[in-house]
Parts: sequence; C-alpha cells; structure tokens
Amino acid sequence: MTDPRLEGRAVKRIAFSAEQLSARVAELGREITAAYPEGELIVLGLLKGSFIFLSDLVRCINRPIKVDFLVASSYGNEMVSSGFVRLVYDPETELEGKDILLVEDIVDSGRTLSKVIEVLQARNPRSLEICALLDKHIATHLAYPPKFIGFQAPDEFLVGYGLDHAESFRHLPYIASLQ
Ligand code: IMP
Ligand code: MG
Repeated sequence: MTDPRLEGRAVKRIAFSAEQLSARVAELGREITAAYPEGELIVLGLLKGSFIFLSDLVRCINRPIKVDFLVASSYGNEMVSSGFVRLVYDPETELEGKDILLVEDIVDSGRTLSKVIEVLQARNPRSLEICALLDKHIATHLAYPPKFIGFQAPDEFLVGYGLDHAESFRHLPYIASLQ
C-alpha cells in the first residue's frame, strides 16, 4: 500500500480502519452519554495522542460537557516505554466535586495512567473514570482500569489516529503498524 503520508514507509497491517474507528467511537459516545445522566462532566484529553480520538468522541457525547486537556510526556522517540512520566500541562478547570472522564489514546504499560490518576485524585473529583481508545492488555494490575475501551489492541507498535512514532503519522485516518 502506498500512502504519501507514510514518509516512504509501508503499512504492515491496518489494525483499525477509519470506518471501524468511527463506528466504535460513536458507540463509545453513546455508552458515555448513558453512563452520566446528570452533574457536571469534564472530559479531559491526555495530549497529544488523544487529540483526534477526543475530537471525534466529544461530538458523539449527547449531554453537556466541558473539555480540557492534560499533557504528560512518557516516551522519547523510542518505540519502547521508558517508564518516565512528566506532567507538562495541568488542566485549569476546577476538578473538585466534578465527574472527570480522562481520555487516553492507548494503554500500554499503564505507567502514564497511574501517574496521571494520582495527580487527578488529589483534586477530589466526584468520580474519575478512564476512556481509552486502545488497550494492549499488558497492564493487568492497574488500580484504575479503564471503564470505557474502544478496542483491544495487538501487541504491536501502532501509528495513526493520533498515535505517533517520533511525532510522525498522527494524521493517518486509520491505525496501522508499519514495516
Ligand atoms: P504506557 O505509560 O506504557 O501505558 O504508555 C502509554 C503511552 O505511550 C500512550 O499514551 C502513547 O502515547 C504511547 N504508546 C504506547 N503504545 C504505543 C503504540 O503502539 N504506538 C504509539 N504510541 C504508543
Ligand atoms: Mg506518543
């Protein structure tokens, strides 16, 4: 497959097509809408990886929400987790007493999530849940398993729909592994 966005690389396998993604994201939006009947809901996107997923997802949530972001940095340019997590931007929205839905692109080791959850818990939200587009199911002992999961992901390095390799390929409308 030749895709001019791939910088000369080739797709090994399309893991999730644009059609599969949009159908599942619409379902997730319906699940989330049904799960939060009332109260103030803050949807917190964990940047940068969640930016495309979040923008599609919030348009499928049929109730009032507020959107904010959080930036954590866990990977360098390597394809393996360094286990190092740094908070670069903190949400400015008041979180105390609010329902918080943290939106994440992919759960791999779960280290990023554990660290971010710790920070958010300290703000005393009314509830705190996670929505992850993909779960690699490597992190089996998460104190906070995601309540909403788009897909189980294969244990391969994936790019596209927000996921990057060294900041490239985030703009692919599908999710793929590369050669
Ligand atoms: P964790 O802390 O090991 O769970 O890693 C989570 C973060 O690593 C995600 O938010 C992604 O930014 C990145 N990541 C993990 N797996 C992949 C992958 O297959 N492709 C691209 N980024 C990934
Ligand atoms: Mg990344």
